Amino acid sequence: MAEPKWKHVWITGASSGLGEGVARILAKKGCHVSITARSEDKLAAIAADFGNVTSYPGDVTDPERLKEIVAQAEETHGPIDLTIFCAGAWFPSPITKMKVENFAKTVDVNLMGVVYALDAVLDRMIERGSGHISWVSSVAGYGGLPNSAAYGSTKAALIHLAESVRPELERKGLTLSLINPGFVKTPMTNKNDFPMPFIMEPDDAAEAMVSGLEREKFEVVFPWQLKWILKFMNILPYPLYFWITRKMVG
Ligand SMILES: NC(=O)c1ccc[n+]([C@@H]2O[C@H](COP(=O)([O-])OP(=O)(O)OC[C@H]3O[C@@H](n4cnc5c(N)ncnc54)[C@H](OP(=O)(O)O)[C@@H]3O)[C@@H](O)[C@H]2O)c1
Repeated sequence: MAEPKWKHVWITGASSGLGEGVARILAKKGCHVSITARSEDKLAAIAADFGNVTSYPGDVTDPERLKEIVAQAEETHGPIDLTIFCAGAWFPSPITKMKVENFAKTVDVNLMGVVYALDAVLDRMIERGSGHISWVSSVAGYGGLPNSAAYGSTKAALIHLAESVRPELERKGLTLSLINPGFVKTPMTNKNDFPMPFIMEPDDAAEAMVSGLEREKFEVVFPWQLKWILKFMNILPYPLYFWITRKMVG
């Protein structure tokens, strides 16, 4: 087997969907994979399939636990050289029916969860002068879409965060990748009752993530069809943009 690009990868949100898919691919490639999510049973089941996957259960909204996980994982398996912050929450809802506590939870998990995880690992990587950081946003973060006020706001913030910190991280010798998936069949999208154009199989999406990370791309985005449709929509003048998005209101 070829030497893996990374020796020790830390993935949050690894108990299902994209995070689990990527954990399995990287474990098969020979990386040591440290996996975090709240569901201890699911993490244990994934770890049981490999000799090189370790479960570190935790909630990404608990910054102290994340620091503990990084300290324990690095002490046991060596420096983390790739992070994939994948944990995410989605409560589809029009703003008129949105519970404010679900809005706050979305911000806590999707945005602050990435910030806390970044904080847990950043000083260590800066001290070493190397490391590859990535987090999962979404093409839904390119511009505002109906039913997605909370989720879309957090994903837009994650895109902004990546654009903001990339030059600083590069100056410290670090690589940053921003992963922007379109629709993927996972437990998160199973609850959606609206059309999901160009929806991808989770294995194909996980492969696309790993391939983009291996090439050290800044933006890892798939599928290409949805990427270009949404990028194009977001350069339209507002009257045209809202002409399109008004049709999406249920
Ligand atoms: N599926 C899509 O179409 C799609 C599209 C664009 C972007 N994304 C993004 O891709 C990422 C993965 O989503 P997915 O589709 O794979 O959905 P998923 O299968 O529901 O995975 C979400 C993961 O996040 C974890 N998680 C949720 N809250 C957490 C918390 N407080 N602390 C720790 N872990 C937590 C879940 O584990 P526990 O419940 O065990 O904690 C699970 O492992 C998310 O950031 C999502 O926004 C998905």
